[in-house]
Amino acid sequence: MKLDLGERGIMAYELDLPLDPKIELEYSHWLPEALNRASLSRRHEFIAGRVCAHKCAQTMGLELLNLPSLPSRAPHWPENLVGSITHNKKLAIAALGFKGQFKSLGIDAEELIDPAKIAELSTVIASDTEMKAIRLSPQNEWGQRFTILFSAKESLFKALNPLCHSFIDFKDAEMKDICLKSNSFSLSLKKGKNELSSFVGDYEGKIIYHKGSIVTVIVLNT
Ligand SMILES: CC(C)(COP(=O)(O)OP(=O)(O)OC[C@H]1O[C@@H](n2cnc3c(N)ncnc32)[C@H](O)[C@@H]1OP(=O)(O)O)[C@@H](O)C(=O)NCCC(=O)NCCS
Repeated sequence: MKLDLGERGIMAYELDLPLDPKIELEYSHWLPEALNRASLSRRHEFIAGRVCAHKCAQTMGLELLNLPSLPSRAPHWPENLVGSITHNKKLAIAALGFKGQFKSLGIDAEELIDPAKIAELSTVIASDTEMKAIRLSPQNEWGQRFTILFSAKESLFKALNPLCHSFIDFKDAEMKDICLKSNSFSLSLKKGKNELSSFVGDYEGKIIYHKGSIVTVIVLNT
């Protein structure tokens, strides 16, 4: 099903997981040999992401015949496209745009993180400043805000990694604002690693709530 991300020029499709066996069969040739022995859920999520990408491309007037993965695990998009794929237990989403219009994009869908798990996860994902900001918000928003923080950083990684070809640690980025009214956020990539220096700066993104998942998207215009 087509998904409206509220981003002009970006096409997105989503598909429920586990995958319908008919769709699995129809698209089974998209599965790389390396995943033949992967778990059923991994095979389903991989194919589902490709089905969504295929449908996006079709709607954009293009025929995507295959979508292999690069060694970085990023999808190897055709020359004229930028895109991003995400999946969780319940759904897969792909978002695509034309390269002339967009530099890159990142999308991520997460199920709500249990607030009881925040303390443990925060040591890897969040800075003290980010945790302070979350704890200053009403307690019933902590899980939602922490999930947005995590997802936004994953989206930023997916948008930037194909450009910088470098690993970005969760602590290299700092959330500046999460606005639950406008469903938007802004985060910045901090100064640090040399190879990331030309990407240092502020990034804005959108939050979409879809079928119980929190979806974040970051679109980089040319
Ligand atoms: C790569 C990563 C972001 C993927 O997230 P995930 O929670 O495993 O899973 P998602 O379902 O949301 O996304 C998986 C999809 O992301 C895409 N992806 C994987 N690596 C990627 C990369 N280097 N660049 C862009 N997209 C990538 C792939 O399409 C993958 O699906 P596929 O293998 O079926 O094609 C995550 O595994 C990771 O390594 N995170 C650490 C780095 C990070 O996020 N830092 C934050 C810095 S601000």
